[in-house]
Amino acid sequence: MTTFAVTAALPGRAPEMLTGAGEIRAAPGSGPLAREQLLALVEGADVAVTMLYDRVDEEFLDAAGTNLRGVCNVAVGFDNIDLAACARRGIVVTNTPGVLDDATADLAFALILAARRRLGEGERLVRSGERWQWGMGFMVGHDLRGGRLGIVGLGGIGARVGARGRGFGMEIAYFGRRESPNAAELEATRLDLDELLASSDVVSLHTPLTPETRHLIGARELGLMKPTATLVNTARGAVVDEAALAEALREGRIAGAGLDVFEDEPNVHPGLLELENAVLVPHIGSATVETRATMAELAARNAVAIARGEAPPTPVPLPG
Ligand code: GLV
Ligand code: GLV
Repeated sequence: MTTFAVTAALPGRAPEMLTGAGEIRAAPGSGPLAREQLLALVEGADVAVTMLYDRVDEEFLDAAGTNLRGVCNVAVGFDNIDLAACARRGIVVTNTPGVLDDATADLAFALILAARRRLGEGERLVRSGERWQWGMGFMVGHDLRGGRLGIVGLGGIGARVGARGRGFGMEIAYFGRRESPNAAELEATRLDLDELLASSDVVSLHTPLTPETRHLIGARELGLMKPTATLVNTARGAVVDEAALAEALREGRIAGAGLDVFEDEPNVHPGLLELENAVLVPHIGSATVETRATMAELAARNAVAIARGEAPPTPVPLPG
């Protein structure tokens, strides 16, 4: 009998999909397990269904033991998984690409609008009970129409953000290691990163976290941006040097930021918490009822395929 170790309660049809193919050993809640509980849960499992906060490293794989054939992350990102360690042990890794593109693009655009039109600041002001008054210069932000939206990583999510930007009358530019097949439809211009930063009104990050993209946006890069520009990050916190961003925002070297992800989640750099021009939300890019069910179901399809010795629908390419 196949054992699926599932590190959090899954929504939608995912649990019945797994019970149809084996037995589930599931964590009861929807938050992270303590490390010892996690290691105990996966012991002897054939397939582990993991969340983005579970660190899947040598220790995890040792705890799981030699039955383990697959790790199915319920996330598009997989920077929590040591791919080389999985490859050495012949363990298949899967993620959930595609199914969360629209939800994440919606959230990125919500942050773009919130930061450009100062929604967080406005909400705090109204709720504070302080007196406020309409005025010509009161709480003015920036138009989207006519501005340039610079997208770092024009993959599935980045392209959906681009489509939303077009709907708002923005011109699209992107930076990517290669030509994106999504560029033509968006009439998007490919620029190198420095040019993109220097010429965009909004910069939105949609690149996975890898050793190459860690601190891709640091003090030098922020220094290239226009003082009227906004940075939005819904990818992974460590793509941005958070301390450098807090300083750039405090000094008004850029106009604002919208952040869904943080370098040391769930901790947020204290400098950001003090700033009116930073819109901060708690890693909710894919957090809709519909999308979470679809993500869990795709992870379950991957897990069931691996248990049956079949090719899973969405494998992560492994090194070597
Ligand atoms: C969310 O951050 C994901 O990687 O799915
Ligand atoms: C990466 O997250 C992408 O799909 O652009």
